Amino acid sequence: MAKSSSQFVCQACGSVTNKWAGKCEACGQWNSIVEETAQETTPKGLTGGKGKKIAFESMEGANEEAPRIAIGINEMDRMLGGGMVPGSAILIGGDPGIGKSTLLLQAVSSLGKAGRKTVYISGEESIAQVRLRATRLGLVQPNVELAAATNIRDIISSLDGGNAPDMVVIDSIQTMFLDNIESAPGTVTQVRAASLELIKLAKRRDMVLFLVGHVTKDGQIAGPRVLEHMVDTVLYFEGERGHQFRILRAVKNRFGGTDEIGVFAMTDKGLEEVSNPSALFLSQRQGQVSGAAVFAGMEGSRPILVEIQALVASSPLATPRRAVVGWDSARLAMILAVLETRCNVVMHDKEVYLNIAGGLRISEPAADLAVAAALLSALTNIPVPDHTVFFGEIGLSGEVRQVGRADARLKESEKLGFKHSITPVLANHKLAIGNEGVSHVQQLLSYFRTSSPKRAAAAGA
Ligand code: TYD
Ligand code: MG
Repeated sequence: MAKSSSQFVCQACGSVTNKWAGKCEACGQWNSIVEETAQETTPKGLTGGKGKKIAFESMEGANEEAPRIAIGINEMDRMLGGGMVPGSAILIGGDPGIGKSTLLLQAVSSLGKAGRKTVYISGEESIAQVRLRATRLGLVQPNVELAAATNIRDIISSLDGGNAPDMVVIDSIQTMFLDNIESAPGTVTQVRAASLELIKLAKRRDMVLFLVGHVTKDGQIAGPRVLEHMVDTVLYFEGERGHQFRILRAVKNRFGGTDEIGVFAMTDKGLEEVSNPSALFLSQRQGQVSGAAVFAGMEGSRPILVEIQALVASSPLATPRRAVVGWDSARLAMILAVLETRCNVVMHDKEVYLNIAGGLRISEPAADLAVAAALLSALTNIPVPDHTVFFGEIGLSGEVRQVGRADARLKESEKLGFKHSITPVLANHKLAIGNEGVSHVQQLLSYFRTSSPKRAAAAGA
């Protein structure tokens, strides 16, 4: 017997209370609790009916590989682990205007071109608007069907009958609603219930479901964290507003790794795949200026070279400013402390700014050595040696530690025309380019003296 009553739901974590509060007790979020109408069903209790027996199976046993549907957009397929798995649900989040709708329109069109049947349902734009964009971008395909709808009941009964499509895009889940729930579209209850119905349908009909999710101000997919648990894959589409680059990142993937990224450039022709991101991230490099060092990083299985820029300025303030874009500010504080304590490099009276050029976010500790080089270069006003890349983790005593995939990093550096590398001491490696192994960050200092024999050696390499 269903009876409806009021309940208070945290829009951040989805926890339910029976009275309003300014702060959610479960997740600590302020101002996130909203009154919603609850559809309660009285639980019957488990003692009454007898459950069916489930069959247990040995872990040993043959399993076939999950079949994959390739989208035909390489950067997307690689991120998903080699294409989409039929019956899976994929959530894609990102800031408004970052290009989610464009990306998915390109995906349905690419599948349509390969003869697959796809459906694109927009709750935000009219059919005419979607068609206009598709026409402008040259994406029109006969197999792609469009709809403007928001009622889940209508959507499900339209998709359930007849020939099920291979892929369905719901843009966006926050605009969808179930008419038997009284809460407004976009609330936790609606989003959760609507997603559940769509996911059940996708599993039943073996089609891929793409859900577009809005993000909140602090960058989480709006509404329920629970949504992330319900789907198989969670992707974030990110990028800096002023930059062309867009990065597709998996934060959860039941059918593949989560450390791959896909790189795109937003152009007037839509999103273009970037198969050589390093070249793109380094394209605007100014050459020999102080305060810039190139870091040979890894994103998933792919090496990516980026420029790290530092600025050190004298400060009138008692606590000088430290600002970081694209890197961890706690990590910067640590590098500064190590330089100060272990190498007597004084920067506590200076303002320090650090920026990863191109709008990429780096989380690898391997960037430490490149950051230290950029800082020292900025402080001394001496450019880092020409055509040189850096990688290596710095420990608290100033030691330079090994990082993974040195070969791949060096190979990529060579490919992009770098001639020298400053890294942790690499044992028995066949090196693609000149290399100096440093075991302590102190050794880096010798590159930043005006008449440095090491600089000359690096230049000659
Ligand atoms: P859109 O895909 O609508 O973003 P989302 O669905 O994530 O909100 O992208 C809209 C933005 O992308 C818009 O601000 C303009 C820009 N854009 C281009 O620069 N070139 C293009 O070809 C397209 C379609 C959009
Ligand atoms: Mg959109």
